[in-house]
Amino acid sequence: MSLNLFYTGQQVLGPTSLLQQTGEAHKRLRRLIAEPLSLDGLKKYFQFINSLAIETLDQRSGREVLVLEEASTIISGSFASLPFKVPGTAFYRGIQARDRMYAMLDSIIDQRRSGKSLKQDFLQSLVNKHSKDAPEGDDDDKLTDKQLKDNILTLLVAGHDTTTAALTWLLKYLQENLTEEHREIQDRKQGTLDLTWSEVNNMPYTAKVISETLRMATILPSFSRKAAQDFEIEGCKIKKGWSLNLDVVSIHRDPKIFRNPEKFDPSRFDEPLKPFSFL
Ligand code: HEM
Repeated sequence: MSLNLFYTGQQVLGPTSLLQQTGEAHKRLRRLIAEPLSLDGLKKYFQFINSLAIETLDQRSGREVLVLEEASTIISGSFASLPFKVPGTAFYRGIQARDRMYAMLDSIIDQRRSGKSLKQDFLQSLVNKHSKDAPEGDDDDKLTDKQLKDNILTLLVAGHDTTTAALTWLLKYLQENLTEEHREIQDRKQGTLDLTWSEVNNMPYTAKVISETLRMATILPSFSRKAAQDFEIEGCKIKKGWSLNLDVVSIHRDPKIFRNPEKFDPSRFDEPLKPFSFL
């Protein structure tokens, strides 16, 4: 199976994006840019993310972050638009936003390499890992600057609107479902907001509220795959090359799997779910 992107999405993301690879090439690239997508990566940057979250929640709403606006323009502007690259069209705006992001990435990568701006974050770690002078790994395991940029862009595009939507719903549902679990931690911390890795991993009820939020809100309501070979599923014969659309909302709201699906009920995650019923 491979991700089924429209022509316009393919053009904007660039040919070396992870989202355009299949099979072994996909596995290799995934390994090379995996850190932001792994638990180890999250653990490594946990304190940084924690401080950023506290700082962001403290700031007044309405603050503009231009990088992320570009990411949104790329998504809304190109992924399902008509393929007319003329001024005024969504596809054209997507391509332009992509080019502005490339220019910005060039400048940030240069700054990071020259040591003018050093930060301990995912970008720094990718820049270090794929630098020509980096000691570890052989050169086959290093991405070119073009590949690096395509894939940083991919991470920003894939990670921006998903996280924004998920956090918006989480703020609502977590606030409505504050429990003893949170109060105990608040009392113990006596006003400090910094959480430890072990504290965030020991909030079983909160974890269920998060899962239930992701079920109810279904951040990626549907996605499409292209069949890499002929196969059969529950009597349906699927031919190589066919597009298969996953209607995730219907799966998440299927009363055969989730009783009373319209109700927000974290206790449905008390027991393990049937495989592939929660995406
Ligand atoms: C709540 C937030 C998020 C949700 C709900 C979400 C959801 C998904 C889903 C459903 C897929 C398809 C998985 C599959 O192929 O079976 C996916 C893939 C992907 N996501 Fe996310 N995602 C989120 C956040 C992020 C973030 C923060 C990043 C980047 C930092 C990211 C980067 C990616 C990438 C690169 C892929 C493609 C992976 C591959 O082809 O191997 N996502 N995401």
